[in-house]
Amino acid sequence: MSTSTTSVPSSFEEVVQRRRQRIDDALDQALPSADSPPTHLHQAMRHSVEAGGKRLRPLLTLAAHKLFPSERNPMPAAIAVECLHTYSLVHDDLPAMDDSDLRRGQPTCHKVYGEATAILVGDALLTLAFQILADSYASDPVASVALARSLSQAAGSQQLIGGQMDDLLAENDPEPAAELLSSIHARKTAALLAASLEMGALVGARGEDRDFIDRIHAMGISLGHAFQAVDDILDATAESAELGKSADQDASRGKCTLVTFHGLDQARKIASQRSEEALAACRSIGGDNAFLVQLLEWLASRGH
Ligand code: IPE
Ligand code: IPE
Ligand code: MG
Ligand code: MG
Ligand code: MG
Repeated sequence: MSTSTTSVPSSFEEVVQRRRQRIDDALDQALPSADSPPTHLHQAMRHSVEAGGKRLRPLLTLAAHKLFPSERNPMPAAIAVECLHTYSLVHDDLPAMDDSDLRRGQPTCHKVYGEATAILVGDALLTLAFQILADSYASDPVASVALARSLSQAAGSQQLIGGQMDDLLAENDPEPAAELLSSIHARKTAALLAASLEMGALVGARGEDRDFIDRIHAMGISLGHAFQAVDDILDATAESAELGKSADQDASRGKCTLVTFHGLDQARKIASQRSEEALAACRSIGGDNAFLVQLLEWLASRGH
């Protein structure tokens, strides 16, 4: 009897689930164990990282790497971005910033471990991100430096931190300009999403083919605007339980968001324009882009 095995292609959800598991395993390996001293700090770091979240940034890094016929390992780059992103969330939630109680379905880091520890958790995760890059790509110094440059540019005072600064300053701005809001979104959110893609491409292309890598980065900027637009919309329209984080906070805190500034309808228009922009760029990039296209489509319709 012939035993023909027809393999059923995995659904998008199955692929995401498998990759998330690999990302979680790699994070588990990279983080100091919860029983190594100082245990309070290491438990708090794990509290925030292991709570999960969508793992969007590492998924983007893995997906961008797939665009290249590369044997190199993009996972360290992927989890470095996730460590850095998680640090930014821990600090974003602090009472001195957005003062949020719920994150990734859990009480925020400072609620469980105290403010001082949450500050140190952020410091440690930020540092760990660069340690992972230095350790994991030591045999390929060109890649290691390119990755550190990409991540540090996205995370520094001209991008993520600068965006966070202006996000806070805009709370007290009686008449913020539309350009300022767009620039805040570009810096606090889009820069790291673009770097997530760029870093996957850098591992894949080894820094060669700069034009192509720049196109991938530009796609990430469009995606980042769409992503923050949806984040602003969800804050105004979804429940904390669905989001796993404190909802309905932006308006009461006087945040300048796409919804408080332009209203819901216009925010939805901007979100769909930016998503379409990212999708068109992704489709035209070619290569093994099927997963990335699906990921962008899912993001456009996400409910959390
Ligand atoms: C939240 O990011 C912060 C923003 C940039 C809006 P995510 O929505 O990706 O958070 P997690 O990683 O899924 O928790
Ligand atoms: C935070 O933006 C962006 C960063 C953490 C860099 P938000 O303040 O809108 O993110 P959420 O809504 O708390 O996740
Ligand atoms: Mg914030
Ligand atoms: Mg916030
Ligand atoms: Mg938000």
